[in-house]
Amino acid sequence: MEVFVAGGGMILQDQILPSLYQLQRLGRLGQISVCARHTATLDALRDTPKIRRAFPTSAFRPIHGGFAEAMRGLAPGSLVVVALPDNLHFAAVMQALEQGCHVLCVKPLVLTVRESEAIEAAARARGLVVAIEYHKRLDDRSLMARERYRAGMFGEFRLGSAVLFEKWYYRHSNFQNWFTKENSDAFTYIGCHYVDLVAFITGLTPVAVSVHGIADRFPNGNEGWLWTDARVLWSNGACLNVQNALGFPDAGPGTNTQGLTMYCAGGESGALLKHSDQYRGLEYCYTTPPTGDGATQYTEPSPDYFQYIDLGPGAGCVPVGYGYRSIDFIVSQIQAARGNPALLAEIEAAGILATPANSRYNERVIEAARVSIAESGRLVEIT
Ligand SMILES: NC(=O)c1ccc[n+]([C@@H]2O[C@H](COP(=O)([O-])OP(=O)(O)OC[C@H]3O[C@@H](n4cnc5c(N)ncnc54)[C@H](O)[C@@H]3O)[C@@H](O)[C@H]2O)c1
Repeated sequence: MEVFVAGGGMILQDQILPSLYQLQRLGRLGQISVCARHTATLDALRDTPKIRRAFPTSAFRPIHGGFAEAMRGLAPGSLVVVALPDNLHFAAVMQALEQGCHVLCVKPLVLTVRESEAIEAAARARGLVVAIEYHKRLDDRSLMARERYRAGMFGEFRLGSAVLFEKWYYRHSNFQNWFTKENSDAFTYIGCHYVDLVAFITGLTPVAVSVHGIADRFPNGNEGWLWTDARVLWSNGACLNVQNALGFPDAGPGTNTQGLTMYCAGGESGALLKHSDQYRGLEYCYTTPPTGDGATQYTEPSPDYFQYIDLGPGAGCVPVGYGYRSIDFIVSQIQAARGNPALLAEIEAAGILATPANSRYNERVIEAARVSIAESGRLVEIT
């Protein structure tokens, strides 16, 4: 299976390209092409030290320019990976489907329900698979929680809170050019992970959203909703508070801070589900401060998202963690379900793989959230 990747930015470097290289090394993928608008992006991706060290003989075919042009002529049956800014996902996914290709798209798939429905229809009409890469689903703790919640061990979710803050230095990055009030907000960008996770664990659906935003200015003067406090109401009456920001101190340990707490009730007892998704038990303090944005002398690295583990000659330096497992899982599911509509229907119904149809609550929440934040946090019902 040939792979065409649209976009060569941060997520490619940190997770997707090394995962694809590993699958290629295992003989499960063919040639990989990566398209980005600027040569410098592709050069930086190619020269990423960690990738070079782990995959010294692997290479992608670089294509400079817009994805629309670059994608033309792609062989039907290929895999298109969409890792572009959110507002370009719809055009890229639709073009891939029109060209007869399967799709792996980074979250969020699209920003409106209408677009998600159009993608579902286009994929079904051609028997193609579209998967959305919500990698937290492949964190073992999410699958454990889902199984135990659905076995009734926690009773019913009632009240909960989730937090995901990126570090302050993001404000100095390319974010300041696009992460402005009219395009996005902290909840839309990263809150969707925990909304998706609570739905994934419980099977409940969100029914109303209220988002209070606090605007700050980026260094270039643009204004963005850089702090958000969201209240998501669920189909059983439960309520989840979600706080997001580009505001975790650069001097704080780890690359961000994140976690989920859910209080539940069943029979005559309360129940609790609590995940520290940032502190995973490791405390490192180095002799000198490492270089790099947000890197700190004392740190709490996560062994669970994405690491390279050197297994020595023969096996090589391999990516491990749920970032890799998520790409591996999606590629396996696409390869198993292509040309097999009955299996695809079973996979969709099982709900581990996120597809446009079985994860559409995410687009519904985002659409409602964008209305709410513009109207000072009004509660917007999801119809
Ligand atoms: N935790 C997560 O799941 C997670 C984390 C980071 C990013 N993301 C998502 O990944 C996507 C990309 O984010 P990123 O941080 O890698 O962004 P980025 O800005 O680092 O990279 C975007 C890339 O798209 C390319 N691009 C833009 N317009 C293009 C066009 N017309 N044709 C071809 N290439 C074009 C740019 O050249 C760049 O390489 C976003 O949708 C984001 O929400 C998800």
